[in-house]
Formats: sequence, C-alpha cells, structure tokens
Amino acid sequence: MEKGTKRRIMRNESFYLVLAICGFMYGLIMHNYSNLEYKGYPRAQACYGECYEQYVAENGTVVEQLQAKAAEAASDPFSSIRGLWAGCAACHGQNGQGMGAFPRLAGQSADDIISKLTTYKNRGEVGNMSSTMWAQAGQLSENDIETLGKFIQETMNE
Ligand code: HEC
Repeated sequence: MEKGTKRRIMRNESFYLVLAICGFMYGLIMHNYSNLEYKGYPRAQACYGECYEQYVAENGTVVEQLQAKAAEAASDPFSSIRGLWAGCAACHGQNGQGMGAFPRLAGQSADDIISKLTTYKNRGEVGNMSSTMWAQAGQLSENDIETLGKFIQETMNE
C-alpha cells in the first residue's frame, strides 16, 4: 500500500475510534443519569425505566447505533469520496448524467475517468473547457482519483 493510502485509512479509523469513545461516554452518562429529571426544561420528558428500555429495544443503545454507522461506513468502499462527489455532482449531476456543457460521466470506465482526471491534475487538455477541471482535479490525491473512477464505473453504469 502506498503511504498516502495508509495515512488516509488511519485517519478514518481514528475518527471512528473517537466517535465510538464519545458514544461510549455518552452512553455511560445517559445510563448513570437516566433517572434524573431535566430540571429547567419543563417540556422535555425524561425517558427512563420502561421508556428507555423500549427505546433501546427499538433503536439499540447509542453505542450500538454508532457501531452500526461505523460498520456501514467501513463496508462502503466509496465512503472516502462521497463527500467529494457532492462537489462534482454540482456540475456533472448527482448520477453523473451530465448537464449542458458539463460532460456525462456515467457509463465511462474507471480507466477512462482515471486517465482524464490525471490529465487534468497535470494541467493537460481533454476538451476545450479543460481549465475548469484543473482546479477540481488539482485537489485530488491519486487515491481519490482511483476511487472516483471505480465509483463512477460501478455505481453509474446504467
Ligand atoms: C465547476 C464545474 C465542475 C465541477 C465542480 C467538476 N467538473 Fe468535471 N468537468 C467540468 C467541465 C466543464 C468538463 C469538461 C472539461 C473539458 O473540456 O475537458 C469536465 C470534465 C470532466 C471529466 C472528463 C469527462 C469527459 O468525458 O471528457 C471528468 C472525468 C470529470 N470532469 C470528473 C469530475 C470529478 C470527479 C469532479 C469532482 C472532483 C468534477 N469533475 C468536478 C466541470 C466540472
């Protein structure tokens, strides 16, 4: 594995670790103080005893909810670029369908996307509006580019 990839993964892992610890602390506090009423919040209802048990039965504990979220993100191979894609989608469309002057990405192979993004990253030309993509691709790591290529190939190949 290349260095950048490793660092990215570690950053993700420590993020979920921190999330899990926060969730655990929160659960601990809620557990210990669930019998206290919230004074000063006259309309807030305390949920304890049966109410809390029912909540847990329906939704799982806070920790379980966090663990489920972390597991979902970990099993999503595209979690690292979903946030990025929101920016791309502003021009290329949520499903890569393209809009007006913004080319369609859906249906292109990962190799094509990767090669074009790499060209843009190096300030090369693909079409006559390539300069629009230079700033976009300039911020992408090689790992981002690879993941974006797979993401587009695998999720937008209708
Ligand atoms: C400001 C609007 C805008 C944003 C944001 C944007 N693009 Fe583009 N994109 C364009 C334009 C315009 C072109 C056509 C450039 C050219 O003429 O070479 C293009 C071209 C491309 C191409 C080449 C398509 C082809 O078949 O020629 C790819 C791949 C691409 N963009 C991916 C992305 C990705 C991935 C992102 C997000 C990281 C992104 N774009 C964000 C406007 C945008």
